[in-house]
Amino acid sequence: STSHEKTPLGLAFESIAGSRSDAVVVPPGYTAQVLVPWGTPLSEKASAWRDDLAMTAERQAQSVGMHHDGMHGFPLDEASASRRFVLALNNEYIDQQALWAPQGGPTNAEEGARPAEESRTEINAHGVTLVEVVKEGDGRWSHVPGSPYNRRFTSATEMELAGPVAGSAYVRTKFSPEGRLTRGTNNNCGNGFTPWGTYLACEENWPNIFVNTGERFADDARIGIPTQRGRYGWETSAGDPSEANDEFARFDITPRGADAREDYRNEARTYGYQVEIDPYDGSRRAVKRTALGRFRHEGCWLGKLEPGKPVVFYSGHDARNEYIYKFVSAAGWDPADANRPGAAYDRLAIGAKYLDEGTLYAARFDADGSGEWLPLTPLAKSRDGRPLHEALGLAADDQAGIIIHTCDAADLMGATPMDRPEWASVDPASGEVYITLTNNSKRTAAGSEATFTNGGGAIDEPGVGFATAPVNEANPRPDNGAGHILRWREVDDGARFAWEVFVFGAAAADADNRSGLTEANQFASPDGLWYDDRGDGQGILWIQTDNGYEGVAEHTNDQLLAVVPAALEGGVVTPETQQHLKRFAVGPSGCEVTGIFATPDKTALFINIQHPGNWPAAEDATTATQGKVRPRASTVVIQKQDGGPIAV
Ligand code: FEO
Ligand code: CA
Ligand code: CA
Ligand code: CA
Repeated sequence: STSHEKTPLGLAFESIAGSRSDAVVVPPGYTAQVLVPWGTPLSEKASAWRDDLAMTAERQAQSVGMHHDGMHGFPLDEASASRRFVLALNNEYIDQQALWAPQGGPTNAEEGARPAEESRTEINAHGVTLVEVVKEGDGRWSHVPGSPYNRRFTSATEMELAGPVAGSAYVRTKFSPEGRLTRGTNNNCGNGFTPWGTYLACEENWPNIFVNTGERFADDARIGIPTQRGRYGWETSAGDPSEANDEFARFDITPRGADAREDYRNEARTYGYQVEIDPYDGSRRAVKRTALGRFRHEGCWLGKLEPGKPVVFYSGHDARNEYIYKFVSAAGWDPADANRPGAAYDRLAIGAKYLDEGTLYAARFDADGSGEWLPLTPLAKSRDGRPLHEALGLAADDQAGIIIHTCDAADLMGATPMDRPEWASVDPASGEVYITLTNNSKRTAAGSEATFTNGGGAIDEPGVGFATAPVNEANPRPDNGAGHILRWREVDDGARFAWEVFVFGAAAADADNRSGLTEANQFASPDGLWYDDRGDGQGILWIQTDNGYEGVAEHTNDQLLAVVPAALEGGVVTPETQQHLKRFAVGPSGCEVTGIFATPDKTALFINIQHPGNWPAAEDATTATQGKVRPRASTVVIQKQDGGPIAV
C-alpha cells in the first residue's frame, strides 16, 4: 500500500467581523437570499403573506410553519439534484407575539381558556414543512406553490407508532385503544435523514405542551411534564362539540377515566421519538420509530455506512446532564436499499427494516479517553449488578418499558451526564463523530456522586434542569457557559469508542480560552453542526451557534463558522491551530443560526434563521431593516457571486 501527502482543503475566505445588526452578514463575493419564510403559502388556497396578515388555522395549515430548525433537501432526480428538490424543514416552536401581531398578541396566554381558533393556529404553526424549491435561470431560488410534494405535518397530524412501544399498554389512548396511532409531532428541533431517502424530524421540547395536574407517572417528572398549565394552554381550549375527538383535551394527561383507553393519560408517551417521513409520497403517514428511545431528541445522525454492517444513528438528549445515545440496527446495510430519487416505492417499509429492530445504547465517557456503549436492554447488567429490567421494576421482556423510561435506564447503566448534547455529524469516510455540547449551568467542580441524583427523581426545574453533576473529563468545565465540541471514533466493532475534545467555545477575553479563540472566531454555545464532505477524505465542519454567553454576545450575533479538521496539526483546535477556524456568516439580532446542508455540487449553502428579533426587511437577507418589521424565521440560501463552490 502507498500513502500520499494530501494538501489540506483551504478555506478561501477571510473570517468576517462580528455583527450585531438586523441583517445576515456574509463574506465579500457571496449573496444571501431569504427563501420560504414563515407564512409562505404552499398552495393557491392560502392567501399571500402580508405584514398585517391575520393568521388563521386554515391559512397556517397551508403555509410554511414557524421557527425553522433542522432541514434537508431530497432531490427528484440525480441530474437536477443541485437545482430542484423537496426541502424538508422542521418548524420547532412559535413566537406568539409575531404570530398574533395584528391582533396585539395572543388571548389568555398565561391563564384562562384559550380561544380554540388560536390554539388550532398555533398547533398548525408547529411540525414539519415539505416544499419543492427550484433554482431559476438567474441563480435565485423560489418555491413551487401547489407542488404535489408540498405538505405540512403539524402537532395534530395523525401518525403511526412503530417499534417496541407500538401496540403496548404504555400508549393505549381513547384515540387509539390499540396503541398504534397518535396525533401530532412537536418541537422538532435538529433533524436527520436516512440513506433510503426519508427525513427524520426529532421531537425535543415536546413535554411542555402537555400538563398533568394529578398523580404523576414515573417518567413524567424526569422528562418534565408541567403540573399547572401547558406551555401554550392548548388544553384549555374547547374542542368542536360535534366531534368527540378530544382535539384539545388530549394535551391534559391527568388520568380521568377508569382505564387508559378512556382518557389521555398515555398521550405524552406517544411523543419523544424520531419521526420518519417519506418526502416523496404524500399518501403516507409519518411514523414514530420508538426503538431509538424516548427523550428530548435533538436530532438523529447516520453513522458510517458500510455494506453488510448495521446502520447506526446517533442522538443526544438536550437537557442539562442528560446523555448521548446510539441506535444499531439488527439488519445489515443492503446498498440495494439506497434512495432512488423521485422513484415511487415503499421507503417506509425499508425504514421499518432498519429502525424498528435493533439495540439502543447510552454512552459512558471514561477519563482515559475511551468510552463504552451501554446497551439499554432488559437483561443488560446495570450499575448495581441487577438486570436492567429488574432495576427499573419491569418484566424481563419489557423493552417497551425500557424505551418509555429511556433516561432512567441510561442512569442505571452508568451513562455519563453531558453538557446538553445538541447536534452531531459524521465524517462519512473516517466514521468520526462530532457532537456539540452547548452549555451547562448545572455542573460544578466540587460536585460529587452524591450531588448527581438523576434516577432518584431530584429535579429542581422540571424539563430544563436536572440535578447538578460534577465535572468529568468529557465535560471538564464547571458552569460551562461557552460549550465545547467532542469527537469520537468507534473501536472494538462499535462496542467501545475513543474520544477527545475538538474545540472549546470561549470569548477571546476569557481566562479559560483553551482553544485560543480570538476576535476573528470567538464563539459560544455551539448547536447546529454539519460535516460537509468534500471528497478525498476531507471536509468542512460547519458550526452554528445559539448563544446566550455574554462575553461573545456583546461582540456578535449568532453565527456560522467553518473549520477543516484535516488542516489542523494534531487534528483539534488549539491556540496554535485556531486560525483555521473562521467566521463565515453572522445572523440578524435575536436569532439563532441553525439547520444546514448544501446542494450536492456545493454551490448553494442552506441555513435557517430562527427567532429573529426584527428581520427580514427584504428578500435579500443582507438588507438591514429600517424600522420595525414583523419577524419571520426563514431559510437563507448563501451562494457565491461567481457560481462556484462555497468556502473553497
Ligand atoms: Fe431545539 Fe436543543 O435545540
Ligand atoms: Ca432553537
Ligand atoms: Ca438546537
Ligand atoms: Ca440551543
